[in-house]
Amino acid sequence: MESIWLTGASQGLGRALALELARQGFIVYASARNQLALQELKQQALGQKLSGMIVPKPLDIEDAADVKTVLDSILSEGPIAKVILNAGTYQPVDASDFDCQSLRDLFQLNVFGTVNCLEPAVAALRKQGNGQIAIVASLAAYRGLPRSAAYGASKAALIHMAESLYTELHRENVDIKVINPGFVKTPLTDKNDFAMPQRVEAEWAAKHIASKLSKPGFEIRFPTPFAQFMGFLKWLPYGIYFPLIRKISNQ
Ligand SMILES: NC(=O)c1ccc[n+]([C@@H]2O[C@H](COP(=O)([O-])OP(=O)(O)OC[C@H]3O[C@@H](n4cnc5c(N)ncnc54)[C@H](OP(=O)(O)O)[C@@H]3O)[C@@H](O)[C@H]2O)c1
Repeated sequence: MESIWLTGASQGLGRALALELARQGFIVYASARNQLALQELKQQALGQKLSGMIVPKPLDIEDAADVKTVLDSILSEGPIAKVILNAGTYQPVDASDFDCQSLRDLFQLNVFGTVNCLEPAVAALRKQGNGQIAIVASLAAYRGLPRSAAYGASKAALIHMAESLYTELHRENVDIKVINPGFVKTPLTDKNDFAMPQRVEAEWAAKHIASKLSKPGFEIRFPTPFAQFMGFLKWLPYGIYFPLIRKISNQ
């Protein structure tokens, strides 16, 4: 059975993805801080008699030493086929309360937490001479959106980083992808107080991601109509983009 290390598996998109990958027959090493939720996830997979299994590996991705210990323990069981770095969060930032600390906090988790995992993962897969890394960013990273100065910038940093690593890693037979979801129904988006166009269920998103991981291509993005719309915004000149986004967001 092939192994996958997945972060952010205790709830939301990561939880649904852990179950879907276990259903496909993978051993899923599932990481997050909430140990109880990871144990419940393991039991759920056992109860559903999935062909793969879920092995809880609790950690805090902001703690680099913790991350390294967990990855070493996974590697001691055998090679890793895929690493999916999904843990992250969203925090709106308004111009009225724009401050350094809120950006620092979000970057600490979304960027440096992910990099804490990426550093040993890149080293391990290069050493193996094969494998895949997939990083969960967001369609919100395509352009500067209102209230998204911290979140959008943190996810744009992840996409940029993955693009930069792509050529060298591919030369060494290691694939790297970004996963750019639109809105997915999770405990995170349940807190949002605004309309979320074309929001999909976490189980649908998980199935979609799992079906695309082994296909060629750098980016997995969904749902298609929303992704195409965000892709269209990406190429608009500022003179058209800003009036349009002001109208759409009522700002
Ligand atoms: N939902 C959406 O619409 C959407 C859209 C685009 C992108 N995304 C991205 O998709 C990913 C998952 O989002 P979601 O909606 O499923 O969010 P969620 O429901 O809040 O789940 C976030 C996951 O990350 C884990 N996590 C948070 N901080 C962590 C830390 N310091 N160390 C280890 N794990 C940590 C959480 O587990 P613990 O609290 O147990 O640690 C949880 O399992 C995020 O990167 C998000 O930015 C989501």
